[in-house]
Amino acid sequence: MNLFSSSIGRKILMAVTGVVLIGFVTGHLIGNLQIFQEPDHINGYAHFLQSLGPALWIARIILLVCVVLHIWAATALTLENAAARGSGPRYSVKHTIRATLASRMMRWTGYIVLAFILYHLAHFTLGLAQRDTFKTVLPSYVMTGDYHVMGLTVVTQDTEVHDVYSMVIRGFQQPVVAVFYIVAIGLLSLHLLHGIDSLFQTLGLRSAKWSGCLRKVALVFCALYFLGNLLIPAAALLGYLQPLS
Ligand code: HEM
Repeated sequence: MNLFSSSIGRKILMAVTGVVLIGFVTGHLIGNLQIFQEPDHINGYAHFLQSLGPALWIARIILLVCVVLHIWAATALTLENAAARGSGPRYSVKHTIRATLASRMMRWTGYIVLAFILYHLAHFTLGLAQRDTFKTVLPSYVMTGDYHVMGLTVVTQDTEVHDVYSMVIRGFQQPVVAVFYIVAIGLLSLHLLHGIDSLFQTLGLRSAKWSGCLRKVALVFCALYFLGNLLIPAAALLGYLQPLS
């Protein structure tokens, strides 16, 4: 119960849920990069995920619980810090200002990423982008070969699946949508950069000796994460990727 009631417990909750969420966004990016292969890949992959049924719902619930706990712990810690700042002397003004700027940046990037996720779910998962301007559902896709995961065939040739390939590309052919994704992913990458630093600190993995090195690893990871995500809307917007229908 200390996880919920003490300040260090809330920091640990933030760090652990943060690790789960970083795992999700990294896996999601790797899955999405299949869009640069034949349409069978991303379409087979999306169909496979949908076919997991209850397992998919368990993963969704775990993700949702992590998002809720992450936001709850962040809000509780912010309120607690504000109350603590209100009373007692300020020992180091410079240090406090830096810490406040970083936490304010985390708060705002966090709000925008949350708004992005809600829009993103409506766009791709609930299907705003699955319909054309006349609100008719876009054509499906027939697999031209089998789709495998770790050597196992999980979707077979000739299966009719949802054309996620064309849906994503068509979505990003709208400049406003593509730019919104790029900005949101840029802010998410900044959020991750500071978050990774803080989580190493909380979990006691950041010694004076390693802190410079960890910062570089976090920087490279976040830069690659941003570039990987940028490639998809950029390629659709510039016409390198074209929908099938
Ligand atoms: C260029 C970037 C991205 C692309 C192309 C993309 C693509 C997609 C697609 C196609 C789906 C729907 C899959 C389906 O229902 O068949 C989806 C679902 C989802 N995406 Fe993304 N995504 C991107 C970035 C992100 C980011 C940055 C986040 C989180 C911050 C995110 C979070 C999610 C979530 C939570 C779902 C719902 C998963 C589920 O419950 O089924 N996505 N994404």
